[in-house]
Order: sequence, then C-alpha cells, then structure tokens
Amino acid sequence: MKRVSLTQYLVEEQRHNNSIPAELRLLIEVVARACKTISHSVSKGALGDILGSADTENIQGEVQKKLDVISNEILLEANEWGGHLAAMASEEMESIHPIPNRYPMGEYMLLFDPLDGSSNIDVNVSIGTIFSVLKAPDGMGTPTEEHFMQPGSAQVAAGYAVYGPQTMLVLTTGNGVNCFTLDREMGSWVLTSRNMTIPETTKEFAINMSNQRHWHPPVQRYVSEMLAGSTGPREKDFNMRWIASMVADVHRILNRGGIFMYPADMRDTSMPGKLRLMYEANPMAMIVEQAGGAATDGRQRILDIPPHKLHQRVPVFLGSKSEVERVTSYHAA
Ligand code: AHG
Ligand code: MN
Ligand code: MN
Repeated sequence: MKRVSLTQYLVEEQRHNNSIPAELRLLIEVVARACKTISHSVSKGALGDILGSADTENIQGEVQKKLDVISNEILLEANEWGGHLAAMASEEMESIHPIPNRYPMGEYMLLFDPLDGSSNIDVNVSIGTIFSVLKAPDGMGTPTEEHFMQPGSAQVAAGYAVYGPQTMLVLTTGNGVNCFTLDREMGSWVLTSRNMTIPETTKEFAINMSNQRHWHPPVQRYVSEMLAGSTGPREKDFNMRWIASMVADVHRILNRGGIFMYPADMRDTSMPGKLRLMYEANPMAMIVEQAGGAATDGRQRILDIPPHKLHQRVPVFLGSKSEVERVTSYHAA
C-alpha cells in the first residue's frame, strides 16, 4: 500500500481541488502536531505526572484535570507563532486568546476542546481533542468574542484526534471526511480511510441512560421505542453504547453508524444540554454532515444555530441520518 501522509494529502487537496489555502494547510499541520504531543503525554499516564486533578475550575465550574490544562497549553503554544491565526478560544479558558503582538496575525480563528472525555483520563479509556476553524471577518482589527459568533455552517475546517488503542485524526475541510492514523515510530499521520460515510441504518444508540427520569417527552418516546426491541414499533432489537467521551462515541458512529444524544432535560432550564456549541457540537456536526449523517439540537440543524456566547451549551442529536430525522420529528410532533 502506498502511504499518503497528512502533509501529502493536504498539498494534493490544495493542488487539485484548491480547497485548502496555504495558511489553512499550515494551521491543520500545526494542530495535528499539537495532537501528536498530547497523544504522547496521554500515553505516559502515571509515568508522566499527567493523571489526576489540577485543583482548578474552568469557566463552566468543572474541576480541571491536569491533562485538560496540559493539552490546552500545548495547543496554545503550538498555534501562537505560525502567523496563521488571529485568535483562539478554548473550552478551558474564560475569554478568547488573541495572538500576542510579537507575532504576525493570520486570517483564521481556532476553537478547541483540548481534552474531551476528561472523566476517562484516569481510567485509561479513549479520550480526544476536538477543533473548529473559522475565518476572521474582513477588516476585523482587534479580535473580540463577537468575531467568533458565527454559525457552524461558517466553519472552514473541523476535526478531532482520538487517543485510543490507536491515535487517529479525523478531518474535514468541507470536502468529505478523511481519517489518519498516527505512525508512532515515524511520528507521522498516515491516511487510512478516505471519504468516510456513516452507514444509513443502525441498531446502536448512545445516551447517558442515568438521566432518563429527567428527559423531555420526545426523547422518552424515541428511546423507549428502541428499548421495546423487535416486538415494539421499531421491529428490531437495538444495542446501547456510552463511552462518556464524545470523540470516541462519534468515532464509532462514523465507522459503523448509530445515533449519539445529549439532550437538554428538565433539571435546569438555564442549562440547555451539557455539550458546548462552539467546541463540541459545531465541529462534530460538520464532520457528521460531511460524512452523510445529520446533526440537530432536536429542532434545528446544529450548523444553523446563531451563537450568542462563547461557552453556550446545546442539546445534541447526531449520527445516522434517518435516526436523527426521526428523533427530530418527535420534537416537532
Ligand atoms: P469534557 O471532558 O470535554 O468536559 O466533555 C465530556 C462530555 C462528552 O465528551 C461526553 O459525551 C459527555 O460529556 C459525558 O457526559 P456524562 O458524564 O453525562 O456521561
Ligand atoms: Mn468535551
Ligand atoms: Mn474538555
């Protein structure tokens, strides 16, 4: 098999499809390099003093793990000096991070969830990094949070790295979804799946069932119909998976179909779901749509949601198209 590296893939995309400008190519390579560094830290575990809590809280009041902080630092440092960015925003930082004056300012803005699935770090279960790329508005001047308030449909690239039995990078620049596997000996990303497509039909769903008593009626109905199995209205048996790392759940769905749900529930109406629009829902929705799937908040396409604040949360339903359409239609009923 002829090996195609991430660099070669990006150069060829730029040359043939003109879909990746040089500055965006640099950005993707820098993010991929940072993910390689994070992967290295992750794999050290207890040998690298990376496990456990950092004894700090992020803006959302969640206790930060050491690896949340380390991964955030790695992404910031890697992306500051290249001249490809105007500003960054992270799940782990209260406000945006403009590029320091000593470096040239580029035309892109990068958003990330540096470490997704934090509860899995200390138990050696798959975790990941999610990123989203926006274009800085024309004539922007000094970047502010306002400049980040673009809908997911404006993303020019999105991706995630999953640190599991293998480290993989899944990427879209709006022209399909490709997956690269990290060759640890060579230190390079090798293209291992081209044009990934989410299987249309599925018998798998992912949701945190422990919240069932709090769900709204449309989610109750959708899940109970699946649980009823072959003698219920769906006339087939379903299987359930919940990894508690969105990256790992989405990665499974990308490969063998299924639906992932993190609904809003009746506990706290000021908290519409758990997942964050800008760092989790938008990039994953772009990847899923590019792979032929669908992503909604139960009512509308996630990529059409106009953001009003950086750390906004949204309900998420994503994966195989017919399933997402079904649960979305139950919300309209
Ligand atoms: P993060 O570690 O970035 O805070 O994200 C965790 C998210 C997501 O990855 C996962 O699907 C979900 O939280 C798990 O939530 P539960 O604890 O409710 O299972
Ligand atoms: Mn996350
Ligand atoms: Mn996180």
